[in-house]
Amino acid sequence: AVHEVTCSAPVNIAVIKYWGKRDTALVLPTNSSLSVTLSQDHLRSTTTVRCVAADEAGDRLWLNGKEESIAASKRLRNVLADARRLRRAAEAADPALPALAELPLRICSVNNFPTAAGLASSASGFACLTYALHTLYSLPLSVSEASRLARVGSGSACRSLFGGFVAWEMGQRDDGADSMAVQVASETHWPDMEALILVVSDARKDTGSTEGMQQTVETSTLLRERIASVVPRRMRQMTAAIHARDFDSFAELTMADSNQFHAVCLDTYPPIFYMNDISRAIIRLVTAYNRLFIKPVAAADAAGDSAPAATSRGYRAAYTYDAGPNAVLYLPREHVTEVLGLVNHFFPPPAAADHAEYFGRAASAF
Ligand code: DP6
Repeated sequence: AVHEVTCSAPVNIAVIKYWGKRDTALVLPTNSSLSVTLSQDHLRSTTTVRCVAADEAGDRLWLNGKEESIAASKRLRNVLADARRLRRAAEAADPALPALAELPLRICSVNNFPTAAGLASSASGFACLTYALHTLYSLPLSVSEASRLARVGSGSACRSLFGGFVAWEMGQRDDGADSMAVQVASETHWPDMEALILVVSDARKDTGSTEGMQQTVETSTLLRERIASVVPRRMRQMTAAIHARDFDSFAELTMADSNQFHAVCLDTYPPIFYMNDISRAIIRLVTAYNRLFIKPVAAADAAGDSAPAATSRGYRAAYTYDAGPNAVLYLPREHVTEVLGLVNHFFPPPAAADHAEYFGRAASAF
């Protein structure tokens, strides 16, 4: 029998950001985070895993058609070792299962978008590899349990195992057993929520997230405040906003958390700059656009867990930026045409090359 599995996984874009590890080997975060999984129509990874004969010794990996060294990636080796350990246990418990755990693997993964440009390619890539191994080895794991495998590959990847709105609960345990993804609301919960990815640059980022976030952990005092009080409160408020489909609170919290993440990067020594002039101009545009419509009411991010406002305060769109200059806008579908019109008017190519190339929406993971 041929033991081979192919699957695809979407990217997810955080609205409450993960930035900082308390354990770098196990990839345990300093705060919980929350993201939206996008549809697979535009940004996805596709991975095939196959068991080959024992004499074809050694695992091998091809990423976007180029062979990569597995030995060079500790994270990848950890994911493979975890999956094999679980398969070995399953085989020991049920001798009728084919002996796959010790067979060498061939892994082939492609992204349909630029790698490492801050477009969450590691998230979809490791989510996809995990799900492919989970299926190949028929592992007896729930999706949340499987998300721990993806987490060891790349923290944000654990959130791509679910569709819709997903929290990564940071957990408290030293072994990471309680640090995993849980679904906050499914992809059908808020069907008119759209995501617009404005590709400002597809160049590789200067400072990778992995090293950048550890510099922040070591040097930023602002991060301590964020971890201790800001994120725990925002996680509760964001969860409530999603459950209530309260776009005003969702937008305020999303933009505030993106702003604070980039403030924490600037508070790092040496400082890290992910946004560029175009990124900042897009923030000004979204801010000016919202201000045409919003009514001045108390902000959702004020101290305390205030209930969502009874009537709409008028927010039209929310921006968020990860470890790169590209903007992701979350907005109700009814405003997509108008916002695209504004973006194309103020940022005609080539200033923001292919800026409106990708669309997505909250969608199912697999
Ligand atoms: C800014 O998941 O790429 O996108 O765990 O070291 O692989 P590692 O980091 P990674 O960091 C993502 C950071 C972020 C925010 C987020 O997605 O929550």
